[in-house]
Amino acid sequence: MSKRIGIIVGSLRENSFNQMIANTIPELVDTAEYEYVSIANLPLYNADLDHGDGPDSVRHYREVIQKTDGIIIVSPEYNSGIPGVLKNALDWASTPTKTAVLIHKPAGVIGATPGAKGTILSQQQIRQTLDATLSHVMPAQKMYISQVMDKIDSNTRKLTDETTRKYLQRYVQQFMQWIDQVQWLNKQ
Ligand SMILES: Cc1cc2nc3c(=O)[nH]c(=O)nc-3n(C[C@H](O)[C@H](O)[C@H](O)COP(=O)(O)O)c2cc1C
Repeated sequence: MSKRIGIIVGSLRENSFNQMIANTIPELVDTAEYEYVSIANLPLYNADLDHGDGPDSVRHYREVIQKTDGIIIVSPEYNSGIPGVLKNALDWASTPTKTAVLIHKPAGVIGATPGAKGTILSQQQIRQTLDATLSHVMPAQKMYISQVMDKIDSNTRKLTDETTRKYLQRYVQQFMQWIDQVQWLNKQ
């Protein structure tokens, strides 16, 4: 059975470069099913709202993640760190403490920036947050995309740079294997 991958983009911007990177993933590894997990309509995290199933948008968001075999986060870096909208979304997926949808979930982290440093600092914080949620972040391969505006086609809204496409393809293929490893681990 093909794997179901949730893709969360950490930018709400219409012409987001990170969204363009995310748009390219399905054509590079077409053996999986993909679902883009929207975080735009989640309320700001408030424990007072977090009872029962929570607000409708949260319930739907959690259900979508629950049905995936793994999630890939594709995110920019803001002020040397994780974008607030993404942190908010990960916080909503981290509760209820014992049954949260991120527990034991395989996760991958990718980031793109027009700058030179490829979202290294943002990815460190994303990994730190995912660790706290008890998801299993793929440890080995990292995917830092710098000078992204030279690597995309803004008409097709896809990644076009051949070297980066190959690297992204290898990253996602490796993520599929990571899912197998985590699923094995979860059964022990
Ligand atoms: C508030 C703010 C802070 C930013 N801080 C950083 C940063 O620390 N490092 C970086 O590489 N780019 C930074 N940028 C530039 C973003 O990488 C750039 O706007 C990028 O295009 C955002 O991703 P997106 O195209 O997916 O929306 C920042 C942009 C904004 C709006």
